[in-house]
This record gives sequence, structure tokens and C-alpha cells, in this order.
Amino acid sequence: MEKIEWVDIVDYGYDGEGVGRLNGKVVFVPYALKGERVQISVKEDKSSFSNGQLLEIDKHSDLRQEAPCPYFGVCGGCAYQHTNYQNELRIKKNLLQKQLTKVGYGGQINVVESDKEYAYRNKIRLFVGEKGLALKERKSSKLCFVDQCLLVDDQINGAIEKINTFILAGNHQKDYSEVVIRKESDCLLVNFYKKTKTDINYQGLYLMLGTNFGIFETFKDSTVHKVGKKYLESEEFGLTCRFSPLSFHQVNENIGKKLYKQVIENIQGKNVLNCYSGAGVLSGIITKQGKRVVGVEIGEAEHQDAQFLKDSNNLFYLTNMLGDCSVVLPRLEEKFDTLVIDPPRGGISEKVVAAINAISVKRLIYVSCNSATLVRDLGRLKGFKIRSVTMFDMFSRTGEYETLVVLDKK
Ligand SMILES: C[S@@+](CC[C@H](N)C(=O)[O-])C[C@H]1O[C@@H](n2cnc3c(N)ncnc32)[C@H](O)[C@@H]1O
Repeated sequence: MEKIEWVDIVDYGYDGEGVGRLNGKVVFVPYALKGERVQISVKEDKSSFSNGQLLEIDKHSDLRQEAPCPYFGVCGGCAYQHTNYQNELRIKKNLLQKQLTKVGYGGQINVVESDKEYAYRNKIRLFVGEKGLALKERKSSKLCFVDQCLLVDDQINGAIEKINTFILAGNHQKDYSEVVIRKESDCLLVNFYKKTKTDINYQGLYLMLGTNFGIFETFKDSTVHKVGKKYLESEEFGLTCRFSPLSFHQVNENIGKKLYKQVIENIQGKNVLNCYSGAGVLSGIITKQGKRVVGVEIGEAEHQDAQFLKDSNNLFYLTNMLGDCSVVLPRLEEKFDTLVIDPPRGGISEKVVAAINAISVKRLIYVSCNSATLVRDLGRLKGFKIRSVTMFDMFSRTGEYETLVVLDKK
């Protein structure tokens, strides 16, 4: 039988969910705010904590607001639409502070807020189900069918509607598992992830989407170009940049620029090693400041884009290396003044930690999109001391954010 309980929310969990106490145990209640008294249905009762679903609010927080998105609370993408943006920033900053105390950092955390709360994303990954395009429900594989997402750019939302029509009209639900749509400078790239090798005619979609776009298909490990543009292009800090459909680019353009600017401001010396360098944008920007940069990137497509950036902007002092940082870093014999690392969510490997501890740089700049792995890695980087921490709200309204930590060699 379903257990219904009343709980006082006293804090927040790492995904921004409300935290209360029930029978001596912690209970997590998504979409509940501190200071609220809420009625919950207990969904999971584990030995050390429970998970509850919010049913009713007896005492509302003054910071509660109506969520603008009709899918909020079902779709797992957003965590904070039920409260105002300043409160979201406060919660995220406190959560980061709590994480950093684990490595003994109790200093200041600077916060850079997003210019846009909504319509900032230049990329969306959608799933394909029986009713067309969908996002996923919170911490679940269940689909939440959507006709738009308030976090993405308007042009992408326009494309979602047309692609949905194309999928449903052609009964392509059986052919696709996912669709990724990306945008740069008014150009869209659409990548269809296929379940089968079936040939699909894109003429209809081509007519619907206009001219400034490209279509790709990915089947197993192979991505092929089908129609239109082959790359996304953008201008970053005066540099011509290019992105293949699978290459990384910061999803919130405005915050991405502010993040890069702060990296540049914290570079020391002339020689910079930039690990996990993606399509080379950050390497290029640092080189433009008169520095010699070596970038290390594992992805072939990203590496090709980084080479394009080097060649088309005449960046003679940039070297792009294709390889795994775990292998390349321990073998590098050159000396560097500053090391920049911007790894994926999983953080850095033991081998990279050992190589960084052994390296003779003056400064380390760690850019992270996951505070849990960031803190784990900071705890292992014994030879460095934290100088400053800045939270960049790259993913507003969601539980995620970017953190830039500047460290000095002890
Ligand atoms: C968060 S992105 C950062 C990209 C770049 N700093 C930027 O701002 O555009 C992480 C990058 O690390 C690359 N990567 C992942 N694992 C790697 C590894 N073991 N060695 C080198 N690069 C890796 C990914 O392909 C991706 O391009």
C-alpha cells in the first residue's frame, strides 16, 4: 500500500531536490523547497534514505513560482523551474560549497549567471518512441513526449516540430532511436541515430527545413553525411571555428565565452598544455594571446576540426595532438607553465592524476561539469593549492553547472 507522509523540507540534495527527515531517515523530495511542509508518497524506502513524490504543499515558500514548461516535473531535464533564478543560483552555489569542504576549501565561490534562463541551448538530444520525439523522465528510461523544450534556441524548437512531423508521417519510429539537433550561426545540423540500415529519403524533410542545415545518420559507430551542410561554423574571439556533428562545443554560447575569458585571464607564462581540447576553440583563443599551446584530444572528428581552426586562422604556435591524455601526458617531455584540463563528466583517470602530480607547471586550471568528480580529483591532486573557484551557470534551470578552479603548485 502507498505510504503517505508529511515532511518539513530543511535542505537540498545534490540534484536540487528538497531534503527532509522521516522516521530518523533522510528523505529526498524533488521539486520541494526549503521551508515548505509537503505531503509525499514514499516511492522508495531504503535502509539509509527514502525517495518521495511531492503530492501537496501545506506551507509554500515565498521563493516558489509557477513553472513555465508544461512538461516540468515529468521530464527529467530541469530541476529548478519551480523557483526563481536567483534562488536556483544560491542553491547551486551552496551545494558546490558543500562539495568543496570535502577537500578543505572554505573560501569564496564567485558566481557567473547565465544571461538567459531559457532558450540558451544550442544542442538537444531527443529520443524516438511510438509517439515521436521525447525526452526522458527524471532518473528513468520512460519517455516524456515533447513538441518543444524551453531550454533550447527557438530555431531548434521550430526544427523539432518539423522533424516530429517527418518521423510520424513516414512511420520512422521503427527506424530511429535518437535525434540530435545542433545550431551555430543560424545553421542546423540534424543527426539521426538509426536502429536499422534501411535507406531513408530526406527530400520531404529537406523541403520543410529550408536551406541552411545538414542531415547526418549514425548507425552503430559510423556517422555519414546525407544532405546539405557538413559542418557548423562560428566566430569565437575573432577566430573561424568549425564543428563536425559529433564534436564538442559549449552549449550555452554566452556563458561559454565568459568561461573562456576567465581561463585566458588566469594563464601564467608562455607555454600552455590544454588537455581534453575538443575542436580546439580554447586552444586557439589562448594561442591568440601570444602563447604557445599544445592541445590533446582523443576524438578524431574534434582533432580534424582543431586542425581546420589552426590552418584557417594561421595559428603557428598551436600544436594539436590526437591521443588519450592518460597515454600522452605521462610521455610528454616538454615543460609547460600552465596546464588547462576540461575533461568529460567522469573527470580524470589515475594515470592523468599521477602525470599532473609529477609535471612541473606553475598553474593548473581545472574546468569541470561535474562537481562530484571534480572534488574527487582535487583530493588526488596533492601538489596543488586552490587559488580561486568560479561557478558558471552554463545549464540554467537544470541541476548542472560548470566550475572553474584555478590552482597553484605548492
Ligand atoms: C568537455 S569537452 C572540452 C572541450 C574543450 N575544452 C572546449 O571547450 O571546447 C571534453 C573533451 O575531451 C575529449 N576527451 C574525452 N576523453 C579524453 C581522453 N581520455 N583524452 C583526451 N581527450 C578526451 C572529448 O572528446 C571532448 O572533446
